Amino acid sequence: MYNVREITKDLYWVGGNDRHLTLFENIHPIPEGVSYNSYLLLDEKTVLLDTVDWSICREFIENVQYVLGDRPLDYMVINHMEPDHAACIDIIISHYPDVKIICSEKAFMFMNQFGFNVDDRVIKVEEGDTMSFGEHELLFVAAPMVHWPEVMVTFDTTNGVLFSADAFGTFGSLDGKLFNDEVDFDRDWLVPARRYYSNIVGKYGPHVQDLLKKASDLDIKYICPLHGPVWRKDLGYFIDKYHKWSSYEPEEKGVMIVYGTMYGNTEAVAEDLATRLVAKGMTNVVMYDVSKTHVSYLIAEAFKYSHIVLASVTYNLNIYPPMLNFLMDMKALNLQKRTVAVIENGSWAPQSGKLMGELLDEMKEMNVLEEEMSISSSMTEENISEMESLADSIIESMK
Ligand code: FEO
Repeated sequence: MYNVREITKDLYWVGGNDRHLTLFENIHPIPEGVSYNSYLLLDEKTVLLDTVDWSICREFIENVQYVLGDRPLDYMVINHMEPDHAACIDIIISHYPDVKIICSEKAFMFMNQFGFNVDDRVIKVEEGDTMSFGEHELLFVAAPMVHWPEVMVTFDTTNGVLFSADAFGTFGSLDGKLFNDEVDFDRDWLVPARRYYSNIVGKYGPHVQDLLKKASDLDIKYICPLHGPVWRKDLGYFIDKYHKWSSYEPEEKGVMIVYGTMYGNTEAVAEDLATRLVAKGMTNVVMYDVSKTHVSYLIAEAFKYSHIVLASVTYNLNIYPPMLNFLMDMKALNLQKRTVAVIENGSWAPQSGKLMGELLDEMKEMNVLEEEMSISSSMTEENISEMESLADSIIESMK
């Protein structure tokens, strides 16, 4: 059975939701599901913008068939070749054998690599090219590395709709609500949106900035991303978030304490610091057990807060493995511009503080506080003055 929405005159959402998938990209938990958005423009010619993941292919085809009725599909624009959007290219071709594919040179290369036979039907476009389909003219804008190298976004100059590929996407299924003014985005969507951005596109901040710069020259009325709600109101809210995230500026002054603990002693140290910070007036403090929190959530919070405290037990003379994993992900995703404090614990040869410091030194613009704390097995009265000065130092660095 079809399930579609009209976005604006001539334009329909023909995507769907996957609430069964456990791990997005087989890495990131998505308890809230995910939507795969595809759009269909009915002009003198018909144009499909991107396809969907294989998991919802059946619903997608029913949607496309319903909106098209007995019309043929003339064109398919492929903005992004990652299989969560491009898996159904050959199914579309099998239903609409005369369809032409509009894409970048690199997307064409990826189509061959992924095994789609499209040679005789591809129209390659470059930055600034336009094509008219009747009333609507589409402008193609290169957006390399947002999130793959072949990516482009497509702008309908007639009605101001930006098909933004992965940019402005979020985790989360749509539950019948398609537009951002049909949801409480700040309450229900900002957290998954931040986790999506930071983990999927976070590494490519400078490329996102390039796209934002190009987009600022366009008169955008709608943003149609490949995941999550379509934006038709208050676009500046989400664009501002993207400016912040892509420039690695923290959203909030606050302290994220991440601890790696085996028997609770390092956790107790983290608790002590949190209590002191709050007692001193810094109430925006959050604590995470690195072993119990999937790293994608930690990364999202690290993109949000200005200050990060890493408290790790020493394990096999190294950083506790889940903490090491978090640090490696911070580095891989290019996180920068944070103030960081380090606390180590060790019963006979504490090492984790020095090793965490070395990894932080390899990241950009990380201000590592000098007040390092070393705990021998468990916190005692003797550590209190050191902990006090660490808390003071964190609060001082926020001024
Ligand atoms: Fe949603 Fe980069 O694909």
